[in-house]
Amino acid sequence: METRLVRIGKGEGNGEEALQEAARILRAGGLVAFPTETVYGLGANALDEAAAKKIYAAKGRPSDNPLIAHISSFEELKPLVAEIPEAGRLLAKAFWPGPLTMVFPKSSLVPGTTTGGLGTVAVRMPDNDIASRLIALAGLPVAAPSANLSGRPSPTTARHVWQDMEGRIEMILDGGPVGIGVESTIVDVSVVPPVLLRPGAVTLEMLRSVAGEVEIDPALGGRPDPDIRPKAPGMKYRHYAPQAELTLVEGKTETVVEEINRLVREQTACGKRVGVICTEETKDRYPVEALCSVGKRSQEETIAHNLFAVLREFDDMQVDCIYSESFSREHLGYAIMNRLTKAAGYRVIHV
Ligand code: TXA
Ligand code: MG
Repeated sequence: METRLVRIGKGEGNGEEALQEAARILRAGGLVAFPTETVYGLGANALDEAAAKKIYAAKGRPSDNPLIAHISSFEELKPLVAEIPEAGRLLAKAFWPGPLTMVFPKSSLVPGTTTGGLGTVAVRMPDNDIASRLIALAGLPVAAPSANLSGRPSPTTARHVWQDMEGRIEMILDGGPVGIGVESTIVDVSVVPPVLLRPGAVTLEMLRSVAGEVEIDPALGGRPDPDIRPKAPGMKYRHYAPQAELTLVEGKTETVVEEINRLVREQTACGKRVGVICTEETKDRYPVEALCSVGKRSQEETIAHNLFAVLREFDDMQVDCIYSESFSREHLGYAIMNRLTKAAGYRVIHV
């Protein structure tokens, strides 16, 4: 299949023709990748089983891993869900459109293919002009996982989408680099109190300030425990991962820099090509070629924004292993460390 890549400028009126074409593809059961404020999504008609199946095939994704339905107005939520619990109403009012996905009891309209066979449906209203215009034009809820091959880091630019999806989907809408860079927060509001299933830019503190008590899915704690089943099935898979083996080194910055340099010397002596993920503050401390800074340690937003692009860069540099500094788990740091720890397959060295 030939994949069309179309660049769309920001603002009303821009890219109208391309958006019309993309909406037509969605209505006809095809696949279109589009930007959101978090990461690029791979869209299909959420109400069409055959279309949802195409998403799983294009991504190479296990079909028990449910998709998020994207909407462009609060009205579009109602037909998809059996009920809108109070917490859902409050959180939607506070954070939609925005980087928050909520899990509701599903209505019979939503096919089991979209929800991975679950009785609940995840819904989100993205805060991105191209995404909302596309959804509104298509006149459909749009099922959209991140537009990467399953297991790869989520795409934060159209180029990343092209790398993974060229030849597999009809169209890619290029709206430039995304703003946030990590996927949306997921909270299950089908239970009381609501449960956080995936940390993101709407932080736990923000959720609690609006909805009161919010619990944390025990599966978010760390290494997957065969006895604990994550409520977001996607959280159990190896994820976000670069091709080389990634290891996190956690501790006081000074000790971390020393340990990473020691590991680099050790691996280089064995003939390995080593990459290092560092910060602006420490980038002069590592005498390695394959070095990527994710930004200033104090600027969580920048780190989130650069994280997945940096993981992909190492694939281009063809390193054998990567060592990364660790970051604070506060606020947005919770999402950053969640993704990094998973990308590392839970290999964390404490020093
Ligand atoms: O920011 C985002 O959420 C991006 C953009 C494109 O909107 N999308 C995204 O989708 O990250 P995806 O498919 O990569 O991740 C969706 C996650 C998976 O971990 C999945 O298991 C979980 O949401 N999920 C979806 N439906 C669910 C449900 N009914 N109950 C629990 N978890 C659900
Ligand atoms: Mg994903």
